[in-house]
Formats: sequence, C-alpha cells, structure tokens
Amino acid sequence: MKAETITINYFQCAISELEAIDRNLIKESQNAIEGSYSPYSKFSVGAAVLLDNGEIVRGANQENCAYPSGMCAERVALYSAGANYKNNDVIAIAITAKNEKGELTEAYPCGACLQVMVETQLRAKQKLRIIVQKDTELVQIFNGIESLMPFSFTL
Ligand code: THU
Repeated sequence: MKAETITINYFQCAISELEAIDRNLIKESQNAIEGSYSPYSKFSVGAAVLLDNGEIVRGANQENCAYPSGMCAERVALYSAGANYKNNDVIAIAITAKNEKGELTEAYPCGACLQVMVETQLRAKQKLRIIVQKDTELVQIFNGIESLMPFSFTL
C-alpha cells in the first residue's frame, strides 16, 4: 500500500484586489443574502452565478419547517440559472454568508452543492471558478470544482 497526497491550490486575496468581474460577483452574492429565508438556522447565505453571457443569477438559502426540504443558496442559484438560461454556461459562483449577528462569515459549499457544481462544470466543459467570502475583507478563489471535491461521482 502506498500513501498518496493531494495538493489543493487556491488563491486568497482582498476583495479590493479582485478583477472587476469577480468583485462585482462577490457584491452580488452579498446582495443576494436579502433573499435568504432562514428562520430556523438564522444563517443567511447568498450566492451569485456568472454566466458566459455576463448575466448574473442570484440565489439565497430557503429553509422549511420540514428541515430537509430546505435548499442551499448555491443550488437555488445554480438551478435557477439552469432553468432560466439553459443554453448558457456557468463560469463562476460567489458565496457570502452572514451569521445570526449579521456578521459576514465564511460558508464553504456543502457536499450536495459540490456534486451539483461537478455537473455544472461538466456541462460547461470549462473550470468553474468558486469564490468564497471569508470575512469583510478576504476571499478565497478555487479554480475548478476538483479543488474542493477532488474525488467526485460522474457517470
Ligand atoms: N447553507 C447554504 O445555503 N450554503 C452553504 O454553503 C452552507 C449552508 C445554508 C443551509 C441552511 O439554510 C443554513 O445555511 C444553515 O446550514
């Protein structure tokens, strides 16, 4: 048996250092938080999806008193993009979250959202850029879903 190692490459920088297109996408994910319905967790998440035609589709987490019926912001945005812009590829997704106190905090996509992003990247035939807001100042950028989900299910 041989031990194997995977290296994850990602970038971290200040929001002010981002290219205008990604700075705008992060801003849109912050704005998307307004659509969050999260009375149970009180954790509000916004996501903004960038399409190849420059359009941005927003999503926010939607909770339900039957807890598993709720949906993460990322999937709300990605499925909305798929339903409304079927013929456009998704290039990037930005994610911003706020805790109960209204403070900006990091939210990495859950496993189910990662699997949906695998499908998104397969459809687009190009690497999906995932931008996670860490706090008021910093973001992390992952170029390709394999950075966050190196082993994923595909058919
Ligand atoms: N949530 C998201 O919308 N995206 C994430 O990346 C992490 C978690 C939501 C699900 C639920 O409504 C709340 O945050 C707490 O888990």
